[in-house]
Amino acid sequence: MTGVICGTGSYVPTQILDNHRLSELVETSDEWIRERTGVIRRHIATEETTVSMAAEAGRRALKDAGMDSKEVEMILVSTISSNVILPCAACEVQKILGAEHAVCFDLNAACSGFLFAYQTAQAYIAAGMYRKILVIGSESLSDLTNWKDRSTCILFGDGAGAAVLKAAKGRTFISAAHSDGNSAEALTCSSRHRRDWKDRPEEETYMQMDGRRVFQFAVKKVPEVVTELLDANQVKAEEIDYFLLHQANRRIVESAAKRMGLGIEKFPMNLQEYGNTSSASIPILMDELRRNGTLKKGQKLVLAGFGAGLSWGASLLEWQL
Ligand code: COA
Repeated sequence: MTGVICGTGSYVPTQILDNHRLSELVETSDEWIRERTGVIRRHIATEETTVSMAAEAGRRALKDAGMDSKEVEMILVSTISSNVILPCAACEVQKILGAEHAVCFDLNAACSGFLFAYQTAQAYIAAGMYRKILVIGSESLSDLTNWKDRSTCILFGDGAGAAVLKAAKGRTFISAAHSDGNSAEALTCSSRHRRDWKDRPEEETYMQMDGRRVFQFAVKKVPEVVTELLDANQVKAEEIDYFLLHQANRRIVESAAKRMGLGIEKFPMNLQEYGNTSSASIPILMDELRRNGTLKKGQKLVLAGFGAGLSWGASLLEWQL
């Protein structure tokens, strides 16, 4: 058995913060942000929370799949920005959706989170343990953003995306995933609940990043892991219709396409609209491509995530909707 995506959904906050408005908060400019990142605006949660966005994206995905919430056997929420530490966001989503038969837990793998959650769901399905799984990536990164730090606050945004996986007969693809805890300091955010946090600099409780190092990591590891994935499945890059990369930076996506010798049209992007929404970026993009008719039954897609940990990975799937 393999898991096929039978529905997608997403939710982004209504409040928009564009580069011009941002340049009133920190010393930056629309031109600089566009040129270095490709981001033009991002959506910022005001009324919304990580849980409310996750639940709405999940509800839309279930509607798209034509599946009642009571049929869901597992809810996985990937997030680094949950409203509370306990209970997990997935249990709160379960309550909102009335998915009383689901087992629920969260997964923290930062910007690789949706990809790793998708792989986890596939593993449960392959093991025959669950047949209908709701996988969600949801983030309120604006809560973890230091709005005084121009090197990070220009990058991130809020939102949620979801996919419903259903067990079906079909080809099971091998996936690829890696972690490098030795490089953990490249991208960090300390908990405000640490016993000693009052004695530490406030900046540490926001995302802190060595931008150049993360950039170098991403442009090297993404093409590497995609090549590893394709080799393992004996599929050629030319056979892939679309590569859905984590939406961190336009230059990272362009560099990956170039290194793989592929046209940029195979690498759809929406980061200009949302910024980097961490684990929400891949499912939001997937849902948009589904809704605007880009994705067609039988197409082969590669999903690739990368981020804090450091962590990175890729999965191959055949689109069945
Ligand atoms: N506006 C204007 N100038 C800025 C700026 C901003 N928002 N942020 C930094 N600068 C300045 C720096 O102070 C530096 O000035 P200096 O040369 O006088 O010292 C200059 O711009 C270049 O800074 P640098 O950090 O080298 O820029 P960069 O080209 O590496 O771009 C990032 C910075 C963050 C956009 C880039 O490193 C990046 O995208 N990294 C990957 C980040 C990422 O995707 N993280 C998430 C992964 S999941």
